Amino acid sequence: MLEVRHAVKQFGKAVVLRDVSVTVETGSVHGLVGRNGSGKSVLMKSICGMIPLTAGEILCEGKVIGREIEQPDSFGALIEGPGFLEDFPGLWNLKYLYSLKARPDTAYLKEIMRTVGLDPESRLRVGKYSMGMKGRLGIAQAIMEKPRLLLLDEPMNGLDNRGVQEMRSLLRNLNKKGTTIIIASHIAEDISTLCHNITYLDQGEVIREEINIPEESGEAGHA
Ligand SMILES: Nc1ncnc2c1ncn2[C@@H]1O[C@H](COP(=O)(O)OP(=O)(O)OP(=O)(O)O)[C@@H](O)[C@H]1O
Ligand SMILES: [Mg+2]
Repeated sequence: MLEVRHAVKQFGKAVVLRDVSVTVETGSVHGLVGRNGSGKSVLMKSICGMIPLTAGEILCEGKVIGREIEQPDSFGALIEGPGFLEDFPGLWNLKYLYSLKARPDTAYLKEIMRTVGLDPESRLRVGKYSMGMKGRLGIAQAIMEKPRLLLLDEPMNGLDNRGVQEMRSLLRNLNKKGTTIIIASHIAEDISTLCHNITYLDQGEVIREEINIPEESGEAGHA
């Protein structure tokens, strides 16, 4: 699905990705793990075509991002908190974003809102949403166009325990239906319960790669 080849990213003199190579298999859930500032979000943004690499290349389904294609053909992303129009309700925001690509199908978007645990009939404007509600709407926005590739940067941020369980099972279901998912998370359990492959980054370098068998029974109680 995705191949990152010898990616280098510099901001001025600061090298934030140094020779990063990662292969993401079609149909897998791939975890990115690393301390704050290790380069996870920068890597995700380069995959989306949001920031160009200094050297190296990223291929999505065989095409070079930034050269042959602007961004992956079919992708949804939640990176560093989604941007919403805060004066409008959640459903209105989804309709607006959806309308940029397709005719909004209100019934479908209402179903997506319910899928992520939000009330589509709520008139509450997004500016009044709690952090977890915004996170849920962010996930709705990322999945609503049924992308083949889903990029999620800390998607569980702000979600309560039940929200985390719901999102894990939602992501597992999407993956079972064929969506390839790249997820950055600081929560070890997200990684162990969801991911097939894990890439560990430190100071912009890949320090370890692991194969993991997701634990289906990850629903057990925790804090
Ligand atoms: N636009 C930018 N200009 C300059 N430096 C940047 C820019 N974006 C990111 N960086 C730097 O790149 C490094 C990697 O940042 P990145 O956001 O990818 O880290 P991260 O692994 O996502 O961290 P976190 O776990 O905190 O989200 C950091 O040192 C950061 O300061
Ligand atoms: Mg980050």
